[in-house]
Parts: sequence; structure tokens; C-alpha cells
Amino acid sequence: MTEEQFWTEFNQIKQDLMDRARENAERFWNNENLTQEDVFKAIAPRDWFEIAYVSFLSEQISSYWKEFDRPFVTALCKHMWDEANHYEIISRVLEKHGYEVPTTTPEVSREWEELHLEALKKDSTCAIAVWNVSETSTTPTMDVVINNCRRIGLEELARVYEKIKKDEDFHCKLGVSILERHMTTEEQRKNAIWGARKLKEQMFKFYDSIYAVPQSQ
Ligand SMILES: [Fe+2]
Ligand SMILES: [Fe+2]
Repeated sequence: MTEEQFWTEFNQIKQDLMDRARENAERFWNNENLTQEDVFKAIAPRDWFEIAYVSFLSEQISSYWKEFDRPFVTALCKHMWDEANHYEIISRVLEKHGYEVPTTTPEVSREWEELHLEALKKDSTCAIAVWNVSETSTTPTMDVVINNCRRIGLEELARVYEKIKKDEDFHCKLGVSILERHMTTEEQRKNAIWGARKLKEQMFKFYDSIYAVPQSQ
């Protein structure tokens, strides 16, 4: 697979997922009968992603930091801190409203998590490709989430997602920059596209389950 072939397919996978995520999120969040309970049930598995990324990034940094330009190591540490902070700020809102904070992998996220762990074992850029697809796919849902949280009286959660939106922009750009600089061999491109394809299949299923049409509709 040439570099050009990699980027063409990789960007298409991200675009397909963004389209699907936007479509599902709009159907769920714009529902006029949406309740706060529907929202908290959809948010809980997303909260798990935040803390899961702290462990993926810590493994990524400890296994591969010597292979990366130093500023990327610093940036990955900032990325890891951001994810811990996202887990904290979402969890506080969940607790305040009487919901439990996830502390083990929800069933719906199991395959997604196993793929990240498998990708981490392959080489220094494979997991970066996987989470770049995963993180980028959620970007078009941010404004839908923020506006509708506000619409149904969840101002605090809207502010939390405004902060997350800003950080995610940095994470998505960071992933692409690392791939551009450090994914240099045919073998790495092969591994990265393997991960991106598998993630696409999984995220399609995931969006269908967390953004199932609410009961109240
Ligand atoms: Fe996050
Ligand atoms: Fe992120």
C-alpha cells in the first residue's frame, strides 16, 4: 500500500464514520421528547471511553516514546491528561444527577477496547491510527450534543462538552501529525489501515446502540 493509497482510504473511512455519527446523533438528540434520563444513559458508555484512553495513551507512551520526536511525547502526555480530565468532568455531572460512573468496560465497548489493545501490540503508529479514526468520528456530534443539552436544561453538561470539543480538535490534529511524521514503512501502513477498517465496522455498531431511538419517542 503506497502512502497515497493509505491516506485516500484512511480519510474516506473517517468521512464515512463522521457521516454516520452525525446522522445517528441528530436523530437521537433532536428528538423533541428527549429526556435527561435518555441523555445520561447515552453519556455513560462515552464516559468510559475517556478513562480507557488514559490507559491506552499511557501504554502508547511507555512502549514507544523513544521512537517519536520529543514534542510529540509531550503532546501525547497532554492528550492523556485531557482524557483523564474529561472522565472527571463528565463523571461529576453523572454523579450529581444520581447516575453511576462506569469503572469497568461496558459490554457495548468491549470489542472497541480489544481492538485498541491489539493495535498497541502491533507497532508504534497502529494504535494512533485507530484512535484517530475513533476520535475524529465523534467531532461532528459535538455541536448537536451541546445545543440539545442546553435545550433540555443540562447547561452544565453543555459546558463540559464545549471544553471536550476544544480538546478533541487538538487530539485529532495530533494523531494525523504523528502518522505523517512517523508512519514510514509499508508494514506500518498495512497495520494502520487494518486497524482503521476494523474500527469502522465496530463504530457503526456502537453508534447504533448508544444512539438508539429513545423509548419516549
Ligand atoms: Fe476525551
Ligand atoms: Fe480525545
